[in-house]
Amino acid sequence: MIPLHHSVEFQHHLWLDALVTARTIVDITCGNGHDTVYLLSHCHESSHVYAIDIQEVAISRTKEKIVKELPHAMNQVDFILGSHDSVLETLPVSSIDLMVGNLGYLPNAGHEVMTQSTSTITALSKGLAKLSVHGLCTIVAYPGTESGRKEAEELEEYIASINQKEFHCSTWRPLNQANHPPILYIIRRRK
Ligand SMILES: C[S@@+](CC[C@H](N)C(=O)[O-])C[C@H]1O[C@@H](n2cnc3c(N)ncnc32)[C@H](O)[C@@H]1O
Repeated sequence: MIPLHHSVEFQHHLWLDALVTARTIVDITCGNGHDTVYLLSHCHESSHVYAIDIQEVAISRTKEKIVKELPHAMNQVDFILGSHDSVLETLPVSSIDLMVGNLGYLPNAGHEVMTQSTSTITALSKGLAKLSVHGLCTIVAYPGTESGRKEAEELEEYIASINQKEFHCSTWRPLNQANHPPILYIIRRRK
């Protein structure tokens, strides 16, 4: 059954559809490695995943999780320490088939490093410029804090302004949950 209570789980079904053909995959916030491991464990053996994070601790946790859970997939992943807005500029790929981002702060670490709307939007626009035809991008935003709400609002405003002739842009979120549940943004290149 497709889960209808949480953006993070709901998006997996969009990923599974995209992963059938996706060969270049980018996780712009690898954090504790849950999303990167999910992507690696469901992608084609010839696919490659780029795992980006601004914090060294996140890169190490993601590496450790892969070594523990999917050691055979270590040759399918590159880890890049840096801010996604600048990393996406220099990423050594001509196109991206699936790009994912889970915003906010790193769970089980200090909350002082959080994604920020300006760099998130810059990263998104640079990633979308490289998105292949029919390529998919999903972003989960967390409006439960003041800065998270601001980031989600500014991100939504940016995504709503994207040319509809080039991209399908939509959103998904639970409507009857307490405490401002995460919002999923979904973008697919049309041509
Ligand atoms: C909610 S966590 C990501 C969770 C992760 N996807 C997982 O599956 O465990 C958000 C991550 O964004 C990272 N981050 C914050 N600002 C960033 C930036 N400008 N560039 C890249 N990563 C950033 C944080 O370090 C943190 O690890």
